[in-house]
Amino acid sequence: MTTQGFTVPDRWKWFTESRYGMFIHWGPYAQLARGEQVLFREHLDQQEYAAQAAAWNPQHFDPELWAATAKKAGFKYACFTTRHHDGYCMWDSAYTDYSSAKQAPQRDFVREYIDAFRKAGLRIGLYYSWIDWRLPAYFEGPEKNPEGWAKVRKYLHNQVKELLTNYGQIDHFFFDGVWPRNADDLGSVELVEEMRRLQPGILINNRLGYSSAHDEYRADGGIGAGDSDTLGDFGTPEHLIVVDRKRLWESCQVTTWRLWSHVTGERWRPADVLLDMLCECAEKGGEHGGNLLLNCGPTADGELPPEFVERALEIGRWLEVHGEAIYGSDGGAITEFITRGRQTTRDNNLYLIIRFWDGRPEIRLSDLSSKVTGVTLLTTGQKLQFEQKDGELFIQGLPREAPSRLFPVIRVECDGKPEANDWGRQRLWEGDPQRVADWARSQRGTSVFMDGVER
Ligand code: GLC
Repeated sequence: MTTQGFTVPDRWKWFTESRYGMFIHWGPYAQLARGEQVLFREHLDQQEYAAQAAAWNPQHFDPELWAATAKKAGFKYACFTTRHHDGYCMWDSAYTDYSSAKQAPQRDFVREYIDAFRKAGLRIGLYYSWIDWRLPAYFEGPEKNPEGWAKVRKYLHNQVKELLTNYGQIDHFFFDGVWPRNADDLGSVELVEEMRRLQPGILINNRLGYSSAHDEYRADGGIGAGDSDTLGDFGTPEHLIVVDRKRLWESCQVTTWRLWSHVTGERWRPADVLLDMLCECAEKGGEHGGNLLLNCGPTADGELPPEFVERALEIGRWLEVHGEAIYGSDGGAITEFITRGRQTTRDNNLYLIIRFWDGRPEIRLSDLSSKVTGVTLLTTGQKLQFEQKDGELFIQGLPREAPSRLFPVIRVECDGKPEANDWGRQRLWEGDPQRVADWARSQRGTSVFMDGVER
């Protein structure tokens, strides 16, 4: 079992309580419907792209509807692309006219998003890309183009400060797209200090670039994400669910296949796969668990795709009943449970999230050492019979049919924080191999033999 061994300050507790955030990738690139990176990936003509971006004027963006949907879907916070790698700004920036406020929509989409989501009770996150494909100096950098670079850096800092000054409390900030710059070029250490001055409670992600003063090695949590090993309050494994042992972490994942913004004819991951990612994040990572930032790419016209809404609401209905196993849970991996599903804990409860419902009336848990005081099938509220003998727990009277389409959950109530015996604490491929030898020796008896190997 992994323990992270650090204390989460109170001002960040909302993040571990939340577990589940909505990532929103929306911008003029949605018109082309081939992903947010289409300008670069297809090596498009910059002028033509910009003209099309400037003319972009979504008619059905209804931030209140987005927020109501997000709330119903069980998300506790959201993170919205204020500016992606194409450089188009979704707010009224004083530093450029390439924005939704100055071009066709004449609207500050960031403000509309923030107002609606805040009103619905969700915490507010902003995504901001360091990269701007329109700016040659960004790619030439301080050595080749010192003057141009100084301007770009100032522009980036000014915009970030603007976002943290004009929109009230910002809870979460997601930098992205550092390549080919590093933290020293970007001045991200100074910028972060400034950000904390403006927003003392803010959580800032780790895509701040490699820092020669702070980092031992170049971390790489994703595809060219530019992670810093030490800077930033939370790690951002992308398309991956891996524990960041040093700090909080949030895995960002697509609901589709690979791209983040709206794509025509995209393939969608089923709801149970998406929910399983949420459960995996909550389960992994010792006492703090991890978060899932699940993406949605609204259409060019400003609508949440129905495929997304359908899946998100199905998960939302599951969370209404089973949310206590996820929100504010303390991570799981208490017992060995991989043959059945996933597990999380909260206070004195162990939650068994059953992926495989096999129709048998009994579940046996072989390694929970805590005394059990009650067992409830959370899905129906039904109290279940149980028996604890010789260190094993038998949960009885389970219905033959799975009580829900998505994962049923069993709450095992213990008389203290759930703990496992040695067998449960040390897992396959981990721990002392002697215990496996002892097990084989004591149980093999004389009935398994003829292998010619000495006992
Ligand atoms: C990446 C991509 C980007 C996406 C982001 C989400 O690094 O460049 O398109 O917005 O990850 O984490």
